[in-house]
Amino acid sequence: MTTITIALSKGKLLPGTEALFRRCSLPFPLGDSRRLVVPARNFRFLFVKDADVPTYVEHGVADCGIAGRDVLLETGSDVLEPVDLGFGRCRLVVAAPAGSGFTPDKLPIARVATKYPRVATAYFLGRGLAVEVVKLAGSVEIAPGLGLADCIVDVVETGRTLEENGLEAVEEVAISSARLVVNRASYHARRQDVARLVDALRTSSAPAKQDDLSARGERA
Ligand code: PRP
Repeated sequence: MTTITIALSKGKLLPGTEALFRRCSLPFPLGDSRRLVVPARNFRFLFVKDADVPTYVEHGVADCGIAGRDVLLETGSDVLEPVDLGFGRCRLVVAAPAGSGFTPDKLPIARVATKYPRVATAYFLGRGLAVEVVKLAGSVEIAPGLGLADCIVDVVETGRTLEENGLEAVEEVAISSARLVVNRASYHARRQDVARLVDALRTSSAPAKQDDLSARGERA
């Protein structure tokens, strides 16, 4: 087997990724290092920001990667997506001040703060609603309370961040979980090695659930 390069997120998906690799008896680097390119047996791991995983894979710097579906929807990267790994489940929602009765169709042009401008724009366009998207890099939940936006589109996992910032989910945009992504050329040129990894991860993954957006321009 030749070396396979895998891009991994340094963020919330990392513990689930490590647990999965250990269940598969695949090598995984120890967590006490700040090195970002780490060889381990016949793998080379790249530790990058969540949103950059699909970029490394699309450009062929990494053969494979693990990224959230939320990130894949936002980047729209041209990668194969053969396995729903089943962990990192969360929802992308429209959220507004709790008890306000707000829905996005109540304003002629609602202002929407989000880390997901592409997803948000497509969602509201699909509903025939005009919105002004305000792109933020994080802590999106404070935007409505401070007057920067009327609502947000963001990821909800436990719901705690929404609740503690006085917001509630009013619409569901998509559901998300961690996905194995594979570079198109690697999938063919390194078929055996990639297939072995895909099979191992698929076998040890939690059962996948149906996606609500599976019909909306999803990758294979
Ligand atoms: C994500 C997301 C929410 C929070 C949701 O933020 O953007 O803010 O997690 O989690 P919860 O429903 O369990 O509270 P992240 O931690 O990635 O930080 P960020 O706001 O800086 O993006």
